[in-house]
Amino acid sequence: MSIRDRLFAAVFDKVMAPMEEAGLAAWRAEVMADLAGTVVDIGSGTGANLAHVPPTVDRLILTDPSAPMLEHLRARLDEVPDGVDVEVVRAPATSLPLGDGEADAVTSMLVLCSVPDVQAVLAEVRRVLKPGGTFAFIEHVAADDKPDRLRWQRRADHVWPHVAGGCRLTRRTGDDIAAAGFEVDDLTRESARKAFPLVRTMIRGRAISAT
Ligand SMILES: C[S@@+](CC[C@H](N)C(=O)[O-])C[C@H]1O[C@@H](n2cnc3c(N)ncnc32)[C@H](O)[C@@H]1O
Repeated sequence: MSIRDRLFAAVFDKVMAPMEEAGLAAWRAEVMADLAGTVVDIGSGTGANLAHVPPTVDRLILTDPSAPMLEHLRARLDEVPDGVDVEVVRAPATSLPLGDGEADAVTSMLVLCSVPDVQAVLAEVRRVLKPGGTFAFIEHVAADDKPDRLRWQRRADHVWPHVAGGCRLTRRTGDDIAAAGFEVDDLTRESARKAFPLVRTMIRGRAISAT
């Protein structure tokens, strides 16, 4: 476990707090509303999704490869509604601890920017989802509608991953989700208030794992 991983985990909630208060927390609640049954959260981090888990969820599997992030998450498991059966598993999103078609929904918030291989992750998400299962996401993406911001994202992409946990600034994650065999039936593109400009362009929504 590196000092950098520990530091990232230690400051994460403080850095994110203004964004959460300015609207990100409401977006989480929106995309997670009414999810039910068995739900897997990939890249759970320090647990920002926990307070938004609806009581319709029976089983919640929280996963992340970072031990320091999971340490913070374990300290706030009481935010999950009573009656939800919770498991915490240290695992990357390419190796989820579920059988084929076992999950009703998978959630991914600000994770696909940081994984080394987006398509490998989305293939694993498709494997664990039942046919017709839901992939709920919030991700920051390339600012294709803002040329100046996109130029800065391209420049910064050489150094940013080294200081931000491997995060890439110029991914077109909406296209990646569609290319992986999901039907993206609900996608909103919007600037996240109080976000650092390089990560301000975000998409959120739901996609259905095609049969
Ligand atoms: C920006 S944080 C987001 C955490 C949380 N989902 C949230 O919304 O606050 C990105 C998370 O992705 C995790 N991560 C990095 N590589 C990953 C991988 N290959 N598979 C799954 N998670 C990964 C990191 O450990 C980190 O916790």
